[in-house]
Amino acid sequence: MTMSRRFSALIVVSCIAWGASADGANATISLVPKPMQIEQKPGEFSLDANTAILVDKDSPDAANVGRQLAERIERATGYVLKVSPGDGGDARNAIVVTSKDADAKLGAEGYRLDVTPEGATIRATGGAGMFYGMQTLLQLFPPAIFGKSKAEGNIAWTAPAVRIADRPRFVWRDLHLDVSRHFFNKEEVKNYIDLLAQHKFNTFHFHLVDDQGWRIEIKRYPKLTEMGAWRKDIGFGLNPKDGTAYGPDGRYGGFYTQDDIRELVAYAKARYVTIMPEIEMPGHACAALAAYPSYSCEGRPGDAPRDGGIFNGVYCAGNDGAFEFLENVLSEVIDLFPSKYIHIGGDEVPKDNWNKCPKCQARIKKEGLANAHELQSYFIKRIEKFVNGRGRTIIGWDEILEGGLAPNAVVMSWRGMNGGIAAANAGHDVVMTPASHCYFDYLQAKTGEPKGIGGFLPLETVYQFEPVPASLSADKAKHILGGGGNLWSEYFPNYAQVQYMTYPRACALAEAVWSDAKSKDWKDFQTRLESHLQRLKAQDVKYRP
Ligand code: ACM
Ligand code: ZN
Repeated sequence: MTMSRRFSALIVVSCIAWGASADGANATISLVPKPMQIEQKPGEFSLDANTAILVDKDSPDAANVGRQLAERIERATGYVLKVSPGDGGDARNAIVVTSKDADAKLGAEGYRLDVTPEGATIRATGGAGMFYGMQTLLQLFPPAIFGKSKAEGNIAWTAPAVRIADRPRFVWRDLHLDVSRHFFNKEEVKNYIDLLAQHKFNTFHFHLVDDQGWRIEIKRYPKLTEMGAWRKDIGFGLNPKDGTAYGPDGRYGGFYTQDDIRELVAYAKARYVTIMPEIEMPGHACAALAAYPSYSCEGRPGDAPRDGGIFNGVYCAGNDGAFEFLENVLSEVIDLFPSKYIHIGGDEVPKDNWNKCPKCQARIKKEGLANAHELQSYFIKRIEKFVNGRGRTIIGWDEILEGGLAPNAVVMSWRGMNGGIAAANAGHDVVMTPASHCYFDYLQAKTGEPKGIGGFLPLETVYQFEPVPASLSADKAKHILGGGGNLWSEYFPNYAQVQYMTYPRACALAEAVWSDAKSKDWKDFQTRLESHLQRLKAQDVKYRP
């Protein structure tokens, strides 16, 4: 991405701020994202060392959620709660996790949560709903329940009695992390996944590849990581001391082995998060082409570059070998990631090399294409055919509309929402991530912020994000799967800075993609966020205060 193009992506989304919430939310209950229905009841439930966690027999999901609940409770309270098989019956000093009598109308990710003075019951048809019910339940306890170690002092571990029915507004709720510009290690990525799952996001968009670094081991092409994962220094005009990703030889970078990837995929799955990998093509390919220059138009080696901008590191669209290379890479990627969607990038492809390259020109002629834009479309369609053949669907940035959209592609609209609108009107599914509302690399205030790429995206603007454009008719609006937030890391070379840019804006985005539009209320959100930040603080998240 470049500054100029990203700043041109400003569009105004009309949002209606409704008045006070209709559910009469009580000040002592501060849930983020806000549930669909919440009814406070008299009394409260007290957790103690004898509380049981009862999970459906023969339900790996209930057992998984029960185990995570027990772990979190033990860490913060010191109580070692037993996770035992249950029958979904009444809770008696117990937290019940069950699919018995679950409300199917709440969908695969919905849940009911009943807290009474006797106990708590999470009912959901599926594991995701059980997991989200657990997240809501945890938020009813004092924030110290999120602590990384046993809370000090004498805390009463009580939760107010409530009846909650909840389900997401959108099926697609993602956060993205760019690990190419700066590498974040496996534990940091796990933390990123943990936090997004707590906010009921269900997709982690893993931006694994870009001009400045290739971060995933590909067995068939070892030089991708031997060379492409490292650069000589931190770049971007940053202080080398601010970076954390130095190899033993002093080079800057890093990568995930295939075992690391499997570990991350399993970690995410246990939190009902799908990791969607992004392998950029045809542009943003300098790191790959530094290792395998024969797949570029010029066919000669260059360095993996250090700084931001758009580069001519583009795969040669006239070279069948480049397609074979990408298909082999994607083959390994598809084997590692169970995600239905494979992100193939597609953004910001300079056409200079293609316009000069005899092989690219020959391809244009042979395929009867009008120009380099249609060559890009040819490129994406050819890759789509391969990915579809492996049973997966491609998703690309909105530039993949240029020169004609691949038949089954999903569009991620970042240069405003017009690309998404065009795609939806053409019958394609769309994820809305307009820079105007969803680019967490933009600064959070006009002055006084640490170095960043620029831009201005305050919390309230994120909160007011409405993924469905008013101009879409109802039959087209159904193509808007949801939305997501993007954290491009150019100026954020350590994980504390990533957290600073992501939170609390991700809390506001969580609400935009989970909660009903009619419950939007900025003042109410601000009040709830105050309590919610205590939860982040308990976990030592370096959010922006
Ligand atoms: C992008 O920001 N270039 C998708
Ligand atoms: Zn070429």
